[in-house]
Amino acid sequence: MTDTGGPGVTRRAVTAAENVRASRGWWDADADSYQAEHGEFLGEVEFRWCPEGLREADAHLLGDVRGRRVVEVGCGAAAAARWLATRGAEVVALDLSAGMLRHAADAADHSGVRVPLVQADAMRLPLADESFDIACTAFGAVPFVDDSAAVMREVFRVVKPGGRWVFAVTHPMRWIFLDDPGEGGLVAIHSYFDRRPYVEFDESGTATYVEHHRTVGDRVRELVAAGFVLTDIVEPEWPEENRQVWGQWSPLRGRIFPGTSIFCAVKPA
Ligand SMILES: C[S@@+](CC[C@H](N)C(=O)[O-])C[C@H]1O[C@@H](n2cnc3c(N)ncnc32)[C@H](O)[C@@H]1O
Repeated sequence: MTDTGGPGVTRRAVTAAENVRASRGWWDADADSYQAEHGEFLGEVEFRWCPEGLREADAHLLGDVRGRRVVEVGCGAAAAARWLATRGAEVVALDLSAGMLRHAADAADHSGVRVPLVQADAMRLPLADESFDIACTAFGAVPFVDDSAAVMREVFRVVKPGGRWVFAVTHPMRWIFLDDPGEGGLVAIHSYFDRRPYVEFDESGTATYVEHHRTVGDRVRELVAAGFVLTDIVEPEWPEENRQVWGQWSPLRGRIFPGTSIFCAVKPA
C-alpha cells in the first residue's frame, strides 16, 4: 500500500477477477524492484516474518519443522521456503506471480537450495487434502485476495489434523493511518471499520494494485469459521537496532505501535 492520496488511488470494491488480474500484473511488474529493495534484508536462505525483522529461528512459530511437509503460500522469492528446507522440512513454495517465482528460481540456482515452486492462486490451492503438516506465509496472498475467508478454508483443507497455519499481515490498526513512515503516519484518519480495499488504478480506471483490510475480529472469525483454533496473535516489537524503513514501516512508528500481526492457528487433531 502506498497511499499517496493522489489521482489513481481509491477505496472501492473490486471483483474477484479484477483482483487476481491486478495482483498478478502488479507482482510480476514489481518483482525486480521488490527484490532489489528488500532482497538483502529478507536474505537468500532466511525466514523473516516481517519488516520488524523477527526470524523464525528465534520465534519458533512453526514448531519443529524437521521431517514435516510445509507449504509456503505467497512465497515471493521463497527465501523462507529455502530456510525451512535447510532445517529438514519438505517444502513446497507457491505464488501467484511468475515474476516472483523467477526470483525464487534464480535464488535456488545461486544458493543451491531447491524447493518445488508452484504458480497458483491461494484461493484455489492445487494441493491434495490433508497433505501438509504446516502452512505459512509472511505477507503473502492473504492481504491481496478479495475473499481471505476462502484462503482460510483452502489452507484448512490441505493441512493435516493437528497441523499449523501461521500467517503474517499488516497489523489491522495500521489501516487507520496514512501509509507514511514519518510523522504523517502518526495521525489517524481512516475508519478502522472501512473494509473497502485500497485500490490503485490506471488511466482507464482498471485496478493495478489491490490490498484488503480486515479487523482483528474479522481475521479471528475467518479462521474459526474455517475450523481452525487460534493459538496466538504475535505483535512483534520494533527492535532498537533495526534502522530500516520498509514502505510505511519505520523505527519512528514501530516504537509506538505494532506494524505486523502474526496469526497462529491449528487444525484440531
Ligand atoms: C508482499 S509479497 C511477500 C512475499 C514473501 N512472502 C516475502 O516475505 O517477501 C506478497 C506475495 O503474495 C503473492 N500473492 C498475491 N496474491 C496472491 C494469491 N492470490 N495467491 C498466491 N500468492 C499471491 C505475490 O505474488 C507476492 O509474491
